[in-house]
Amino acid sequence: MRTLPCIVDARRFRPAPSRCDNATVTDLRIGPHQLASPVVLAPMAGVTNVAFRTLCREQERERMGTVAGLYVCEMVTARALVERNEKTMHMTTFADDEDPRSLQLYTTDPEWTYEAAKMIVDENLADHIDMNFGCPVPKVTRRGGGSALPYKRRLFGNIVAAAVRATEGTDIPVTVKFRVGIDDDHHTHLDAGRIAADQGAVAVALHARTASQRYSGQADWSQIARLKEHMVDSGHAGVPVLGNGDIFAAGDARRMMDETGCDGVVVGRGCLGRPWLFAELSAELRGLPVPAPPTLAEVAAIIRRHAGLLVEHEGERKGCRDLRKHVGWYLRGYPAGSEVRSSLARVATLAELDDVLAALYDGPHAGALPDDADGARGRQGSPGKVVLPEGWLDDPEDETVPEGADLMHSGG
Ligand SMILES: Cc1cc2nc3c(=O)[nH]c(=O)nc-3n(C[C@H](O)[C@H](O)[C@H](O)COP(=O)(O)O)c2cc1C
Repeated sequence: MRTLPCIVDARRFRPAPSRCDNATVTDLRIGPHQLASPVVLAPMAGVTNVAFRTLCREQERERMGTVAGLYVCEMVTARALVERNEKTMHMTTFADDEDPRSLQLYTTDPEWTYEAAKMIVDENLADHIDMNFGCPVPKVTRRGGGSALPYKRRLFGNIVAAAVRATEGTDIPVTVKFRVGIDDDHHTHLDAGRIAADQGAVAVALHARTASQRYSGQADWSQIARLKEHMVDSGHAGVPVLGNGDIFAAGDARRMMDETGCDGVVVGRGCLGRPWLFAELSAELRGLPVPAPPTLAEVAAIIRRHAGLLVEHEGERKGCRDLRKHVGWYLRGYPAGSEVRSSLARVATLAELDDVLAALYDGPHAGALPDDADGARGRQGSPGKVVLPEGWLDDPEDETVPEGADLMHSGG
């Protein structure tokens, strides 16, 4: 069983009023979008494409009778969008019935941000824009992008303001996602939350790790509580704070809401290979019975559906290749056998996939439920020093746009 993250630094932390306390939490407002559940799928590059989001929404509908959460697309780079990069345009694909269509922008420059947001408005590409300031990858922070950027308070504010200006007068709200800071000596989340709200962001999401933690250790949920408190104290009580980091089971979501007073939860790695997790989180937070996890045979059917959706989006070769990375996550905790696992990790066509999955539909363990599937999954890694541009920490008020920081990268 996971141990809880350390929650209270008594000198700095006054607990925010809990919004949950074992009661039900049935809504989350993101600007004009009233969501019936406070559960958000975290944007994950290479994962939360239209295929995965469709699968998650189908699972929520099947298990809960309705689609209530928010499902954020994998991020796209603002500049690549404006330049109509073919791959980027394809990444902005949404299902016909996706509502709201939530698109995340990675950006470092107010001008590209404005152009990209304006394009989203003019071409009706999405109903919600989230902005990614959480990426800890060295090739991004080295140039001042991702989680390095909020340290430059004015530049950060200018970027958020540009997106808000471009969407003014529309029903497209802007939200911002960031980390606690660069490292423990350079926390930026309180300023980032307040500045984002000052500039018109309608919600903020905090991945409660610093960039130097990357994905290692545990998220420090007390920082979510501090951000919530700071938003209230700075006159932004109406701007929802979404907590993110280390939710792997329904109980984690409730604990995060109870302990931090946050208004909603953002879930990333916990959903890898578990598109049904939303239904569980949503049920838990709404005080409804938590649906049972699928049996091994049902997981096989979900894998097949995921593959079908990927193939629709990417073609058979690429879709099947893309599926392979999900297989280990899907089968974690299930008695699928090593032969099936390794065959699945090699499938190249849907016909091959069907052959391998047949062993799971009809095998001796078809009715098996997962054992210990609720632990951490996906990226973990180890902490490391954050690489920054020369002199980056000298002047937090410097609003110069960093050069070459708007390159494509692999997430947050
Ligand atoms: C494979 C992967 C890709 C990610 N890509 C993005 C991204 O494109 N944008 C973003 O803001 N965060 C991205 N993240 C970070 C997640 O959105 C989330 O903040 C992080 O995984 C912590 O939440 P979790 O503990 O629920 O996984 C990514 C994370 C993973 C594991």
